[in-house]
Order: sequence, then C-alpha cells, then structure tokens
Amino acid sequence: MKFRSATDVVGRINMRLQPRGNDLRRQAKVIETMLQEGEALLDRARLLAHLQEFGLSGSTAAWKGLASYADWINTSVVGPLQIPTEMVDYLLYAGRHRPASVAEIGVANGGMATFSAAFFQALNPACQYHCIDIKDRFYVLPRIRERLNFAFHIPSTSDDHAGKVFDVVFIDGDHSYGWAKRDYLNMGRHAKMICAFHDIHGQEYVSEEGGIFGFWRELRATEARQSTMIEFSHAVPGEGVGPRGLWMGIGIIDRTTTRGLPLATA
Ligand SMILES: C[S@@+](CC[C@H](N)C(=O)[O-])C[C@H]1O[C@@H](n2cnc3c(N)ncnc32)[C@H](O)[C@@H]1O
Repeated sequence: MKFRSATDVVGRINMRLQPRGNDLRRQAKVIETMLQEGEALLDRARLLAHLQEFGLSGSTAAWKGLASYADWINTSVVGPLQIPTEMVDYLLYAGRHRPASVAEIGVANGGMATFSAAFFQALNPACQYHCIDIKDRFYVLPRIRERLNFAFHIPSTSDDHAGKVFDVVFIDGDHSYGWAKRDYLNMGRHAKMICAFHDIHGQEYVSEEGGIFGFWRELRATEARQSTMIEFSHAVPGEGVGPRGLWMGIGIIDRTTTRGLPLATA
C-alpha cells in the first residue's frame, strides 16, 4: 500500500472506521491493570500480552506487513500504528531509565500515546506524557484522560517546542526528510535520555527528499560516534513489505551512554 504522507494515512482511515466504544472500554481496563502492575511491566511477554489486549488501530488491517498480527487488530481506529514487538522493545529500552517526561511528535488517534503513557507512569508515577500533533483526533475515555499525566499540545508542531528538554522524544509526525530533520533539531537533539524515530526503514516516504529513511542514515553517520544507536527492525521480508523487509523500524539514540557503556565490575 502506498501513501503520500502519514497525515493522509490517518485521515483517510478515520473516515472509514467507527464506532470505537467497545475498543476504548477494553483499552481502559488494560490501562488500569498496567498502572497497578508497576515494575512488573518490564517483563517483555507481559507487556506484549497487554498490547495484544489493548489492540492495534483497525486501520492497520489493510497493512500486509502486519498479516501475522490479524488477531491483535481492533475493529475501530483506536490503537497504535506500530509493529508490536518494535514498539514494546522501544518502551522497554526507554523505560529502564524511568523518564519523568516523554514527548511524542505525531500522536494520531492516541493509541501509542495512551499505552506508552500508562507504561512510563507505572514505572515513574510523576512521568508526564506530552502529545504533539497538528490535528486533534485523539480518542481516550475521559476517566483515562484524567488518570494519565497527559499534556496536550494539539495543534502544534516541534517548532512550538523548539529547545524544550524532555527525557524521551519519540518522532513520528510528518515523515519527509525536511520535517524529520526539523523535529530532530527542534526537540530530538535536546532529549536528555532517548531520542527515537519511527519508520527509519519506511520506503513510503523516500520520495519526500529521502524521508525519515534518508535523514536517519545521515544522522547515524555522525551521531553514532557520540551515542549508542540501536535499531529495532522486525518487518518480515516477503510479508507484504518487499524482499528486503524494509518497513517501519524504530531507531534509538541513547544519550545516557555518552560517557561510555557502564562496565561490569569484578
Ligand atoms: C503515523 S501518525 C502517528 C502514529 C502514532 N505515533 C502511533 O504510533 O500510533 C502521524 C501523525 O503525525 C501528524 N503530523 C503530521 N505532520 C506533523 C507535524 N509537522 N508535526 C506534528 N505532527 C504531525 C499527523 O497528523 C498524524 O496524526
């Protein structure tokens, strides 16, 4: 499937998929459980099971690359637009640092933001989750909205937050090269612990001056000398994502290791 931009994808999908009540109620239960479980969420199998119950956005049903996750997909639009294992591995990686502030650029329906906010809040009850998007289509039950430490900055772009410092910044907004770079310069480079990009392998955006695909590779060439860089890339070659499996992918810059990886002491 080919889309012009991330905004097109979400916009077209939202018009098609309704209603979302049952999905939101089920998601609310998952969130309550996660908040009670705290540190136990650092168990990968447990976190994946919660994500399966929470569900992916119904819009992903059309994505052949997620064919093996057919039973994870909601009937409505609510839920993350992610490969589950990539998302969970990013969360576990960032969660080790118990961030107190996280910003997601491009929250769409709020599926990833809601699940992530509950995860980080379970590990650090003071954690604030900042939601940035140019359009408001965030769906969450009012009681969950109250329960989670959300800060909504909608509509806004990274231009409105230039220079602000967050522990973790997750970049998943406009996927053109120009915006990937702008989001990084405005916010990503100021991230204290982790700066992550979604779609580092996304071929859909390469026509946009190289897209995130191009910017990530350019950044990697210089940044890897200073910080640990990690890539989670779980798309399956041949399963609708081309012979090389280049699709989605989460790239992480870990600033906590700038002074060198901690060495095991005898
Ligand atoms: C692919 S969706 C994000 C998906 C979400 N992170 C998830 O995993 O569920 C991209 C979102 O970025 C938003 N967006 C597009 N351009 C943007 C920009 N310049 N700044 C912030 N958000 C933007 C779109 O409105 C859309 O909601």
